[in-house]
Amino acid sequence: MSRLVVISNRVALPKDVRAGGLASAMQSALAETGGLWFGWSGRLVDEGERTLQRLGDGRVDFALLDLTREEYARYYLGFSNRTLWPLLHFRPSLLDYSRDDFAGYRSVNRLFAEHVARLLQPGDRVWVHDYHLIPLGAELRALGVDAQIGFFLHIPLPPRELLAILPHHEHVFSALAAYDLVGVQTSADLDALTRYFQVEYGATIADGQAVHLPDGRRFRAAAFPIGIDTGRVARAAERAANGAATRRLVTSLEHRRLAIGVDRLDYSKGLPQRFEAFGRFLSRHEEWRAKVSLLQIAPPSRSDVPEYRELRSRLERIAGATNGRYAEPDWVPIRYVNRSFNQATLAGFYRAADVGLVTPLRDGMNLVAKEFVAAQPADDPGVLVLSSLAGAARELTQAVLINPHDPDDIVDALREALAMPLHERRERWSAMMDHLRRHDITYWRNTFLEALADT
Ligand code: F6P
Repeated sequence: MSRLVVISNRVALPKDVRAGGLASAMQSALAETGGLWFGWSGRLVDEGERTLQRLGDGRVDFALLDLTREEYARYYLGFSNRTLWPLLHFRPSLLDYSRDDFAGYRSVNRLFAEHVARLLQPGDRVWVHDYHLIPLGAELRALGVDAQIGFFLHIPLPPRELLAILPHHEHVFSALAAYDLVGVQTSADLDALTRYFQVEYGATIADGQAVHLPDGRRFRAAAFPIGIDTGRVARAAERAANGAATRRLVTSLEHRRLAIGVDRLDYSKGLPQRFEAFGRFLSRHEEWRAKVSLLQIAPPSRSDVPEYRELRSRLERIAGATNGRYAEPDWVPIRYVNRSFNQATLAGFYRAADVGLVTPLRDGMNLVAKEFVAAQPADDPGVLVLSSLAGAARELTQAVLINPHDPDDIVDALREALAMPLHERRERWSAMMDHLRRHDITYWRNTFLEALADT
């Protein structure tokens, strides 16, 4: 079997138990196949002090490259997270474009390509991940790499009209044509991609998937909704149920009910709307006061980006106001925790919760929704309240689906979830769990790699 070479901005080392969505998914995806994982080391250095660190744990080799402070500012904070991130999450009003950031983005992609090209061996399959690295395939091709190269976009792809807002968008998105296979999360993302190529470049689409450009370039595009390691989450949750952290949480509730949210502190996650809705729920349904708490775990993220710092202050204000208004000496409505927990601890918390609140304004997939379901006990499962604007809503159709822009929708869903009879909870949960078992992370990896082999 040929070697798998994965390239992503963020890399999770084996002991990194706090990895984000993409990194922990890739950890599971690489666990069986082994291979090489290339990406940013997470270190910032001065010009001239850059190193490429090589580490290995037997199955997976890691190649980790430092970035300079300037590269971090332009490529990561600037173009990736202040330009592409808001645009691709349907928030063009937050888009902040600068030609210097775009140049920094391109030069880090070139730098990654130069290092990767030196590490490649004949027969390797290359798999590039996410919006930080859209031009990487084209840079590898420019260096003469003729390996099969696939790309997977973990975040949403908005319609052409939004993509075309980006200055010089053709230099960014046309680079996707250098890949053999481009994977996206949902059929809506796929439609946006093929339509963009049709309208902007006059491409023709065969079988809904094969994109042919007038200049002769061609690539295949398809939707591969990412999964989780369902069995592992379920086992971890079962083990954690009797662990110290879960027991402390459960004891602290004193038989009150619990709704849980776990999100990076990001404006795409709809956290202010969620907090507002929880306050409105308590105001409208007095009978639930002092009977239910919201535990919101929100580790700070990208705090060098101003919009993320503003969000943090805004949430502190709303949580403070809601708690000040409704708290009792022995009960707080919103338990707001700005730190991360390892996946085993989270699995125990999910299992202890009655309701999972996953209400992003826009999300490529949202793996928390899937992990919440996988962590539930079969005999007494909790209820998932899920944004219809998350990719996961297309698969987890038995969740209580809401529009995150309508706080009343969240209020009604909370009420419905807290009152839902056991037989209905079981029915909904079994259908979702069955889907998650069949479409787990191994299924996702295999279907993508099989499609890549077929190109
Ligand atoms: O899923 C989107 C994503 O940007 C991943 O690429 C990343 O692992 C995660 O969000 C966390 O973000 P960051 O790497 O910027 O901390």
